[in-house]
Amino acid sequence: MAVERIVNTTNEDQEEQRLENSLRPKDFTNYIGQERLKKNIKLAIEAAKKRKEPVDHVLLYGPPGLGKTTMASVIAHEMGANIRITSGPAVGRAADLASLLTNLQDGDILFIDEIHRLSRSVEEVLYSAMEDYKLDIILGKGPSAKSLRLDLPKFTIIGATTRTGALAAPLRDRFGIMHRLEFYNLSEIEKIINRSAKILGISIDSGATENIAKRARLTPRVANRLLKRVRDYADVNGDGIIDMNISEKALELLEIDNLGLDPADRQLIEAIIVNHKGGPVGVETLAALMAEERSTIEDFYEPYLMQIGFLERTPRGRKVTHKAYKHLKHDPNKQLKISSPQSNLL
Ligand SMILES: Nc1ncnc2c1ncn2[C@@H]1O[C@H](COP(=O)(O)OP(=O)(O)O)[C@@H](O)[C@H]1O
Ligand SMILES: [Mg+2]
Repeated sequence: MAVERIVNTTNEDQEEQRLENSLRPKDFTNYIGQERLKKNIKLAIEAAKKRKEPVDHVLLYGPPGLGKTTMASVIAHEMGANIRITSGPAVGRAADLASLLTNLQDGDILFIDEIHRLSRSVEEVLYSAMEDYKLDIILGKGPSAKSLRLDLPKFTIIGATTRTGALAAPLRDRFGIMHRLEFYNLSEIEKIINRSAKILGISIDSGATENIAKRARLTPRVANRLLKRVRDYADVNGDGIIDMNISEKALELLEIDNLGLDPADRQLIEAIIVNHKGGPVGVETLAALMAEERSTIEDFYEPYLMQIGFLERTPRGRKVTHKAYKHLKHDPNKQLKISSPQSNLL
């Protein structure tokens, strides 16, 4: 199995989820950064309110931990709407979706996380539901089957996905608003850390905030997770106050380097450099090397490594950059020499 990662951006642990919910901003004012997204959504909400209609269907996409689920609840809050939460894998059959939809009320929001994991048959039911608030049901089988059209309340779907490419085009087209969430900048991450520290009653100085921010992969979920780990360390090894010294020691223990890379990231880059002369190498090969699913490589490892300019996607596969060679203390020129035919003869 794959290694357990502190910087892993999925969130399955129950305690972790409680923490996350307690830190989740409820409204636009507390939702830090993503200015373009906020501007678009605010406009859509205002327009919807004026027309006294539910807001358009929204598709949020981007790497995990950047605030998709949070934005869905902010939208619900700002619309004064109820939100129901489900996910692609949880809606197994068309009947499950039908029961969700028929239980909605006018103005409700249905949030579908990992919407790219809906089955095709469920997706098809969703098309007409989203387009004209109708549900087509087929009763019975064979020649005696009858089709029935049900009216649905006027609801809003908010879908979240790490990859839009995996969505069927007709489904994608049904979203009036599509928005990609971007990585945050360092000062936004610092603000998020300070906000979380305040909520959790943690005292942290500005040097330590900056130190944690630098290693948070520009991702709020990772920032909060690191803050919690560093706090645990400070409670055990100090007086609970997080200063530069404590943060440095705690982060060292977690083996997260000054760019936020953990051992698994470094292993991935190292593997491309050592086994594949820096690439290009296919993503399937990388997945096999790391004993991970292809989607894990694509969703969790690559976006941040590309964001910091360590990895490039080329038509022939993934390549590491000189920057990555330097960070791992490899000499890019030496690698080039080794790969030339002459040096193979030595
Ligand atoms: N813009 C933001 N401002 C403050 N905190 C945020 C923001 N976006 C995300 N977070 C924090 O990060 C955590 C993960 O966000 P979430 O919405 O669950 O990410 P996603 O659904 O994209 O994986 C949340 O608990 C929240 O506390
Ligand atoms: Mg989410």
